[in-house]
Amino acid sequence: MSAEHNELRVGMVGYAFMGAAHSQAWRTVNRVYDLPARVRMTAVCGRDESKVAEAADQLGWESYTTDWRALIARDDIDVVDICTPGDSHAEIAIAALAAGKHVLCEKPLANTVAEAQQMADAARAARAGGVRSMCGFNYRRVPAVTLMRQLVADGRIGTIRHVRAVYLQDWILDPDFPLVWRLQKDKAGSGALGDIGAHIIDATQFVTGQRIARVSGLTETFVKRRPLPAGSSGLTASAGGGSADDAEPATGEVTVDDAALFMARLDGGAVASYEATRFATGRKNGLRIEINGSLGSVAFDFERMNELEFFDATRPAAEQGFTRIIVTEPEHPYLSAWWPPGHGIGYEHSFTHQARDFVAALAAGDDPTPSFDDALQVQQALAAVEESAGLGEWVTVDSAKTTAPA
Ligand SMILES: NC(=O)c1ccc[n+]([C@@H]2O[C@H](COP(=O)([O-])OP(=O)(O)OC[C@H]3O[C@@H](n4cnc5c(N)ncnc54)[C@H](O)[C@@H]3O)[C@@H](O)[C@H]2O)c1
Repeated sequence: MSAEHNELRVGMVGYAFMGAAHSQAWRTVNRVYDLPARVRMTAVCGRDESKVAEAADQLGWESYTTDWRALIARDDIDVVDICTPGDSHAEIAIAALAAGKHVLCEKPLANTVAEAQQMADAARAARAGGVRSMCGFNYRRVPAVTLMRQLVADGRIGTIRHVRAVYLQDWILDPDFPLVWRLQKDKAGSGALGDIGAHIIDATQFVTGQRIARVSGLTETFVKRRPLPAGSSGLTASAGGGSADDAEPATGEVTVDDAALFMARLDGGAVASYEATRFATGRKNGLRIEINGSLGSVAFDFERMNELEFFDATRPAAEQGFTRIIVTEPEHPYLSAWWPPGHGIGYEHSFTHQARDFVAALAAGDDPTPSFDDALQVQQALAAVEESAGLGEWVTVDSAKTTAPA
């Protein structure tokens, strides 16, 4: 932080989907929340000069660069915000931490457990020097999800028996949808599993306070080859891809899962089921979590993100039923700073909440959560699902190292 002005000067890498969402959050956070530090949108980084210049202008960044190493080397940057695909997270985050920059890194933390482990090790070492890090699991910061956690922590649903989580999308239903980076293992690590399965793993662990201990999973790739995207000469078109002379467009192999399903045992005794798919026809961003306990249940559906369903089994039988809580009251998490009750918030607000918590922790000299250690454990759960799917057996999540003291 620049001590003179209590400023946090942010440098962001990547300016597309998440870059736009994070920019919105950095732009908004001090206007909505009263925080001890002010965010300055100092520089954005992308590889294409004209495009990054345009992005800087549109998204509100003071300057731009085409080299993330140059960004990290700058004296006027305090925070590096990583919004690139998973194949570059480890390299950028480890270099930024070594340069003394706080790091916010999009999920999943990395593409492999080994990379995530290196990042968590680097974060632990940096923490000793007051350098902080956090992984961007934004769905924790949807007020209804945070409220779910509070109800569970307050004992309102009693002992948790069932955790049921799905994350349903359908954006690659069309077999002619191109082979974008999310469908390539070397760029994305895995498919629906790491992309959206990671979110429901983090969100359910956050809500329940229990961690996934053992898993039994399966994965499926329904469409095995797809057309190469326009201008994708750098792509590794695998054997069998068409040539320039072919009438058929060149195709490449899909190297990730389209869908992943798994059962799990949580370390607090709950049993759980998870489903992450990009082939749930008609479902666009259907992140749903239901938790059943000995005294009640809570249920959330992102497509109705301002609502939470709560069933209280301690009420008289004649009055029982699921209550639809409209999560827009000032008493609800994050909401006192927004609009009058009933006016609702959207997807982008979760990123403003994430920025608020990150800035507040940095200003207080605290470690923001979820930490890289927390995100490493998610990565270990993802790896266990893949291993289980390959073996056809239950697999224990190897989280021994994540609980090592800092
Ligand atoms: N939290 C969420 O809800 C959420 C949603 C979508 C994506 N994500 C995560 O965010 C990350 C980025 O995903 P996205 O959807 O924004 O991808 P995207 O394809 O929309 O954008 C990626 C950006 O990174 C840039 N980039 C790639 N390699 C780079 C490099 N070496 N140097 C500089 N810039 C580089 C690209 O030019 C582009 O601007 C991924 O880890 C993804 O899993 C999170």
